[in-house]
Amino acid sequence: MRVMGIESSCDETGVAIYDSRNGLLAQALHTQVDLHAIYGGVVPELASRDHIRLLPVLIRQVLDEAGLAVASLDAIAYTAGPGLAGALLAGASVAEAMALGAGIPALPVHHLEGHLLSPLLSGDPPAFPFVALLVSGGHTQLMRVLGVGDYELLGETLDDAAGEAFDKTAKILGLGYPGGPHLAAFAARGKTGRFKLPRPLRHSGDLDFSFSGLKTAVLNVVSAQDWRPEWGADLAADFQQAVVDVLTAKAAAALERTGLRALVVAGGVGANQALRAALDVAACRLGARTYYPAPALCTDNGVMIAFAAARRLAQGERSQGDNVIRVWPRWPLSALARPQAPRG
Ligand code: KG4
Ligand code: ZN
Repeated sequence: MRVMGIESSCDETGVAIYDSRNGLLAQALHTQVDLHAIYGGVVPELASRDHIRLLPVLIRQVLDEAGLAVASLDAIAYTAGPGLAGALLAGASVAEAMALGAGIPALPVHHLEGHLLSPLLSGDPPAFPFVALLVSGGHTQLMRVLGVGDYELLGETLDDAAGEAFDKTAKILGLGYPGGPHLAAFAARGKTGRFKLPRPLRHSGDLDFSFSGLKTAVLNVVSAQDWRPEWGADLAADFQQAVVDVLTAKAAAALERTGLRALVVAGGVGANQALRAALDVAACRLGARTYYPAPALCTDNGVMIAFAAARRLAQGERSQGDNVIRVWPRWPLSALARPQAPRG
């Protein structure tokens, strides 16, 4: 099964070709970070235009690299949601048009399913079932993953996502965009313990999260009369520690509650080294193990979309075949139907 995956849900244009027998054949990724940096965040219209500009270039590039023609692919998969409507439409239109032209199926893929399954691409993949902690710019969720397409939501954020909290706090501290990696680097220069920041919902007894109060707490610290700018790195360190504490406590509670021994961490915030270190320790204490995607697959990419589609096709899922351009900007992962068992 040879599948092209197209990712264009936010500010990364990703294209890849995954072969279920031979693995990854080719991939290309273009990040729009420079395009949006001066605005301090993603500008949706600019994102869509840049996807339109880059998609044909990257698609040509991966086909050439893999030495393949479009018609020799088994399917073209694209991120159909969740994400920015215009950005999703760019990828969906190109994918459906190419599929129609080549007479091959097109398959809409859930962006978070891509993240969730990406650790399965590593040399030492986890076995089902496992607990997944999905921490991206738009989502913070704990899921019980029973198999491809079989996901049970255990808990999620009631307001800001973890990545969003990193991005907003970085902005408050005058750091660059995207905030997560900048804040993490800044925090590494500071020490924890100077500021007492809240651990929202830490003891709520459920597996839900809330991060908007934490960002407000940071804002209150820097707005106070006695604030000194030289404390910035310490505040970043305390903010990061608060997020890490809450994510780790809830992920550990999810392992305990489900009795599962594997924790998969996916999404951009999963690249955070302080978070990884804390999750490793917490899992180890419970006799469990952590699994991460390769660093290059932590943030958005086309590989995870091609891979998720290949796994779904292998399980018997079929394209609608009508070449209708489908995008769902707010598509809950829990709404994904369980794939049909292969017939015959
Ligand atoms: O998964 P992703 O690439 O895109 C979404 O689907 O949202 O995640 C992007 C998010 C951003 O909020 C970014 O600031 C955050 O992941 N991020 C990090 C780190 N690297 C990326 N947050 C904390 N520490 C990092 N090292
Ligand atoms: Zn993502």
